[in-house]
Amino acid sequence: MSPLSARMPGKNKKSGHKEIILEVLEAIRTRRSIRKYKTDPIDDKTLETVLEAARWAPSWANTQCWRFIVVRDGDIKSRLANTLSATNPAMDAIRNAPVVIVACAELGKSGYDNGVPATDKGDWFMFDVALAMQNLVLAAHSLGLATVHVGDFDAKKAASILEVPEGYCMVEMTPLGYPDQVRNPRPRKELAEIVFYDKYGR
Ligand SMILES: Cc1cc2nc3c(=O)[nH]c(=O)nc-3n(C[C@H](O)[C@H](O)[C@H](O)COP(=O)(O)O)c2cc1C
Repeated sequence: MSPLSARMPGKNKKSGHKEIILEVLEAIRTRRSIRKYKTDPIDDKTLETVLEAARWAPSWANTQCWRFIVVRDGDIKSRLANTLSATNPAMDAIRNAPVVIVACAELGKSGYDNGVPATDKGDWFMFDVALAMQNLVLAAHSLGLATVHVGDFDAKKAASILEVPEGYCMVEMTPLGYPDQVRNPRPRKELAEIVFYDKYGR
């Protein structure tokens, strides 16, 4: 049985944190970007559960171009934080959360047919990595953990800190930890603004 299906609501014995298993729609609706974290550690089983959620994401022809780096080392987290722009509100979160998950992608796999781009979009790695990372953040939220997708950073500098090899690139990172803030939802466009029927604009 996978860790995902094995998880049952209750108290996580190791961390002492209450585990909240949310239904998918509830998790989608109540997830927030969190930028303040408790220093409490995340146990290996919980970490494996959120990584499993990423692993089960769909991908182009099941190419699974994503790779994940779990960063717990304080010095590496701090160096990663320094790759964010000075005004990025997630900088302290990357520095202080107990774990940072870094999402990388193997290039030239997603969206390709025998090495040739199959569509006008070229490489679909951003799409596949996003699907995996959104699975990850929703699973984390359902377990009472917090995250924030972080995309505004110097990806080349960060990749060199993490020794990401040639042919791969770094896409995003998220702090992972127990939330130390409660945030109100940010507004969303109404469905009427973003959904059309039969043809664009209708
Ligand atoms: C692709 C992407 C990149 C993002 N990059 C950053 C970032 O660099 N720093 C940050 O603080 N938040 C970042 N965010 C978080 C967004 O600001 C946040 O998702 C949005 O304001 C909606 O808020 P919510 O996630 O609480 O619903 C990013 C989100 C996405 C999807």
